[in-house]
Amino acid sequence: MLINELDHRVKNTLATVQAMARQTFSGSDQIALTSYMNRLKALSKAHEMLTRNAWEPTSLDEITGSAAHTFGPDRFTRSGPEIMVSSKVAVSLTMALHELATNAVKHGALSLPGGQVRISWRHRPPGDEVLELVWKESGGPAVTRPERTGLGMRLIEEQLAHEFGGRTCMAFEPGGLVCTLQLTLWSH
Ligand SMILES: Nc1ncnc2c1ncn2[C@@H]1O[C@H](COP(=O)(O)OP(=O)(O)OP(=O)(O)O)[C@@H](O)[C@H]1O
Ligand SMILES: [Mg+2]
Repeated sequence: MLINELDHRVKNTLATVQAMARQTFSGSDQIALTSYMNRLKALSKAHEMLTRNAWEPTSLDEITGSAAHTFGPDRFTRSGPEIMVSSKVAVSLTMALHELATNAVKHGALSLPGGQVRISWRHRPPGDEVLELVWKESGGPAVTRPERTGLGMRLIEEQLAHEFGGRTCMAFEPGGLVCTLQLTLWSH
């Protein structure tokens, strides 16, 4: 009952934040407003997933599956062992995957009909406390290293680094972006 109540309140709060943004920024940059709204929606979906799992640990299969479902399941290949992550890690990963997928649609593999994204994950040896997730794009336009980065990359790098001692590596390979995320599990 408490979890449902919490879910209800989180949704109300997010709806209020959306309404405030719409009013505050009406008449200004609509593209920025849309990407902000989409970020809020991703956050809202992450919370829905946590509610479904009663804020218990969530599997990487479900987290990556949710992103694939939103952006086109036939464009994604996912593989990795059964790994459960805390609700806090689940929210951060969901937001990071949202930024990566949005970028793939805007600049990368998902901007062309045949483009694909492969997501794989594993524990890094020797212990099991570090998770490594690799996002690899192919079949998109030729990629070059950008001269400037925007909010998307900052969100991924800073949030993971601050919250989980995480490390992010973005490789702008000609055949497609390869992003490697590493974060420490269970220490928070
Ligand atoms: N998947 C990708 N393939 C090719 N280039 C990419 C990819 N993702 C990002 N980039 C390049 O990196 C730049 C920075 O990405 P970032 O997400 O930080 O900013 P943005 O998408 O331009 O804007 P914002 O995320 O703030 O809406 C992009 O402008 C683009 O040039
Ligand atoms: Mg972006």
